Amino acid sequence: MEEKNTQTENKQIDYVAISCKKSTKIKKAFYMFFDWLLPDYVWGIFGKLANKIRVFLARRLSKGINKKVILRKGMDVYPGIVLEKGVVIGRNVSLDWGVTIKEGTRIGKYTAFNTQNHKRNFEKGIFEGLTEIRPVTVGKNSWIGEKSTILAGVTIGDFTTIGAASVVTKSVPSNCMACGNPAVVKKVYEMNGAD
Ligand SMILES: CC(C)(COP(=O)(O)OP(=O)(O)OC[C@H]1O[C@@H](n2cnc3c(N)ncnc32)[C@H](O)[C@@H]1OP(=O)(O)O)[C@@H](O)C(=O)NCCC(=O)NCCS
Repeated sequence: MEEKNTQTENKQIDYVAISCKKSTKIKKAFYMFFDWLLPDYVWGIFGKLANKIRVFLARRLSKGINKKVILRKGMDVYPGIVLEKGVVIGRNVSLDWGVTIKEGTRIGKYTAFNTQNHKRNFEKGIFEGLTEIRPVTVGKNSWIGEKSTILAGVTIGDFTTIGAASVVTKSVPSNCMACGNPAVVKKVYEMNGAD
């Protein structure tokens, strides 16, 4: 257990160190500049080209981002993110380091993924630094409704819907619909046909 904690801390130190590197800051600045410059749409020649440029620049920061993804305007990107083939990221989505989104999953606009919290110093009554990274994983072919917040340590299964504006504080299994604040499972899918 102790060894596992040390590994997580090392991982965090790595990401913090990588993010503080001048080369990472330059790559991020490039991403932000071109993201601002490029159109938001992803259809037609210009849209497809804009998406290609966004994906190319995002992959300079996070090698785990597949070439066949769709990234809309305003995504916050860091090192240590995995986006598998066919993932669609809506407008203004915030992705933290340690987020993995598996094949074919769609993320609604303004959704935020958090893998860390601020450390609370109760003696001084201040917040200082960050806690260890608790990775967030979303399974295959899921759909996160817009304006949701997915908190540290959460795993969401395959083919799961998260209702709009939900706050997901605990893991959610595969093949179901969960929603609300805190999100709870409201429906378990019977896997036959379409609705
Ligand atoms: C979740 C959703 C897909 C509906 O799924 P559904 O299986 O048809 O669910 P229902 O409409 O039958 O609702 C089931 C229950 O969940 C509740 N519910 C549905 N969506 C909810 C949400 N976002 N937050 C809180 N409760 C919600 C319903 O009120 C209902 O509650 P009840 O059982 O107490 O009456 C839809 O409500 C939703 O949130 N869509 C996301 C839209 C979006 O983000 N679009 C952007 C495109 S990326």
